[in-house]
Amino acid sequence: MFALGIPRPFKYVRVKTLEEALDALEEGRPLAGGQSLLPMLRLRIPFESLVDINELDLDFIRREGNTYTIGALTRHNEIASNVPLLRGVAITIADLQVRNRGTIGGSLANADPSANYYPALIVLGAEVKAVSKKGSRRIKVKELYDNPYTTTLREGELITEVSVKEPRDAKLYFKVIKKGGSAYPIAVLALLKESNGKLHASIGGVFPKPILLEGESKEELVKSIEGYNEKPLSDHHMTGEGRIKLVKDLINTFDEDYREIHLIEGRKINWKTGIGVMATGEIKIRVKVNGKLIEDTVEPRTLLLDFLRRNGFVEVKRGCDEGKCGACTVILNGVSVKSCLVLAIQAVGLDIKTIRGLDASHLTRSFVRNYASQCGYCTHGFLMVSYDYLKNVDPEASDETLRYSVKNICRCTGYINIIRAIKEAGKDEISG
Ligand SMILES: Cc1cc2nc3c(=O)[nH]c(=O)nc-3n(C[C@H](O)[C@H](O)[C@H](O)COP(=O)(O)OP(=O)(O)OC[C@H]3O[C@@H](n4cnc5c(N)ncnc54)[C@H](O)[C@@H]3O)c2cc1C
Ligand code: FES
Ligand code: FES
Repeated sequence: MFALGIPRPFKYVRVKTLEEALDALEEGRPLAGGQSLLPMLRLRIPFESLVDINELDLDFIRREGNTYTIGALTRHNEIASNVPLLRGVAITIADLQVRNRGTIGGSLANADPSANYYPALIVLGAEVKAVSKKGSRRIKVKELYDNPYTTTLREGELITEVSVKEPRDAKLYFKVIKKGGSAYPIAVLALLKESNGKLHASIGGVFPKPILLEGESKEELVKSIEGYNEKPLSDHHMTGEGRIKLVKDLINTFDEDYREIHLIEGRKINWKTGIGVMATGEIKIRVKVNGKLIEDTVEPRTLLLDFLRRNGFVEVKRGCDEGKCGACTVILNGVSVKSCLVLAIQAVGLDIKTIRGLDASHLTRSFVRNYASQCGYCTHGFLMVSYDYLKNVDPEASDETLRYSVKNICRCTGYINIIRAIKEAGKDEISG
């Protein structure tokens, strides 16, 4: 097993009902998509017990009148596909793989100052339902965020749903600035423009808390930002001054060249297995890879990436080891995920495929034809995410959907040939 960044040991419980979850949460922490929690585990932050809530019936989207109620376990890609109001917010999160696992409830509970949902949900006046053994309560999203990585949730409380109203006489504009790849944004702007011209803006990534500003014009909002009495965030990505300048530009141009994103509606991602699991130490698991059951002894902290490589699936590569490069991507239950951001024990009951178990000759042929690989280290990961993208997102590989989806890193070939190969493979697939 890889020596650095191995999570500390913890107890793993996969619960099947909300009651079981609330009992287990008395001593544990919820594990939803794991797309923030797994990187935290890799930093060796100690957690005694993780309560995997992925079996709960919290993956739903309901619409009544102009109100959407979204289950906490709804994945970012499902929101992008099925909630037009939040499409631009969800599709600009990370990349296809992170969006297949990451959930709206996990994102809000994680309270990253640069997270996509906070500014949009604040400006829309959304609220969450939080449930514990003591009962349930509703919390405005604006009041849920306390400080970076801290919320006002109480011990043992679980977010179960988010409710958000589609505004009747106003339009939501959403923009993010990123530094490339699947990184978090540096600045996020959600701006609601009422038909009478009044503007409500919420800004993330610039101050320790997402802020809400109101005004009659862009100039008024820019002035409020200049006079805002809080020290801006500053890190190796950008200085505080740079962030303020960026967000002022975002406000000044929010309605210029603003394009709605089009996606196929009705997308559903299924992570349910019907199987409860509990492990404190070593446990023998059987996982289906490329159609065969592979048996191995793992600990709860063993990553799916390590499980696959030590069982001979060495086409799955270790790259950045922090969830960014995509070299470790595999197909899990029909969609792409980063195997360094999934625990091996979570794959019990799910179906894993690498290139050896997929009919993806249209892709491999196109990669060879277009010289889309040099050393080949990143190629398997690219094939995996491209397979998911062409099959489940956009067989026509439009520039618009491609740039939000395939964000793996290649250190030698560059991206022109890879993009060409994906587009050609899409055409091959469509023409049969
Ligand atoms: C490479 C990369 C790039 C990313 N880029 C972006 C980006 O551009 N924009 C963005 O917004 N996000 C980004 N993310 C984060 C991503 O959106 C995560 O999905 C999200 O932050 C956490 O959701 P999760 O379901 O994975 O939660 P988990 O990782 O499972 O959990 C996160 C935290 O929330 C708690 N938790 C989870 N569910 C609940 C619940 N229902 N109730 C109470 N507590 C709960 C957990 O205990 C944990 O503390 C990125 C992540 C990665 C790895
Ligand atoms: S994303 Fe998993 S190794 Fe880089
Ligand atoms: S071909 Fe070498 S890293 Fe991509």
